[in-house]
Amino acid sequence: MNSVQTKPAPSEVQVKFISSSIGKKMFMAVTGLFMFLFVLGHMVGNLQIFIGQDQLNAYANALKKVPELIWLVRAVLLVCLVLHVWRGIQLYFENLSSRPVRYIVNSTVQASIASRTMIFTGAGIFLYVVYHLLHYTFLVTNPQYAGLHDALGRHDVYSMVILGFQNGWISAVYILAMFSLGYHLTHALPSLFQTLGLNNDKTRTKYDVAGWIIAVLVFIGFSAIPVAVLLNIIKLPEGVL
Ligand code: HEM
Repeated sequence: MNSVQTKPAPSEVQVKFISSSIGKKMFMAVTGLFMFLFVLGHMVGNLQIFIGQDQLNAYANALKKVPELIWLVRAVLLVCLVLHVWRGIQLYFENLSSRPVRYIVNSTVQASIASRTMIFTGAGIFLYVVYHLLHYTFLVTNPQYAGLHDALGRHDVYSMVILGFQNGWISAVYILAMFSLGYHLTHALPSLFQTLGLNNDKTRTKYDVAGWIIAVLVFIGFSAIPVAVLLNIIKLPEGVL
């Protein structure tokens, strides 16, 4: 009997899709999108420091009152991070062995410096996040921050952030990391639009420019905080240290 072409089972199709270059790019896009949405929300939350101590502390403490939400977001973020890093490393080595990697719509995303350095800016962001969690979330590098409380007895996140950034080295590390993040996004956002099929020949320039503008705003939004502390625009409240 002649060989009969059998249709692959759906799971087989899914596995093939995920391990294809397009599948990997889609994975990068979806996991990256979730982390990007977190970063945007986090930036807006942090910028409340410019309104004042009461505002930032009320916001930070209100978040802690919904631990289920926090742990859900943390779990999804962690899964996204692991998948994003794993797939990113795979894509990097595939590109090194010069196999052409195509985007869903077409392959005209320019091999800019930003695109060729994604693995390095990504590694920088990863190392930064590890340090950042040890610094402000788990208070491993600065356990004394745990003793900071405001007049209402809430954890004084406002003073903690200011004390952190009064150290010029720490501010420099943060600003450098924000630069890595912004530069990573200048390629990630246009790629995201393209992988999700939003981009075509007519809209490409518009989406590329939009990606750049958002990336620059993210860099400025986050960096504004250490810069404002170093310039004494945001000051420690009376009585803190
Ligand atoms: C000026 C820049 C930033 C400041 C001042 C800042 C501030 C903070 C603070 C105060 C916390 C701890 C909140 C608390 O436990 O009360 C925190 C947590 C966190 N930050 Fe940032 N952050 C900055 C930038 C970033 C960036 C760029 C990223 C990601 C690339 C990031 C990712 C995180 C994550 C993942 C957490 C842990 C959230 C959780 O509790 O699960 N942060 N940040």
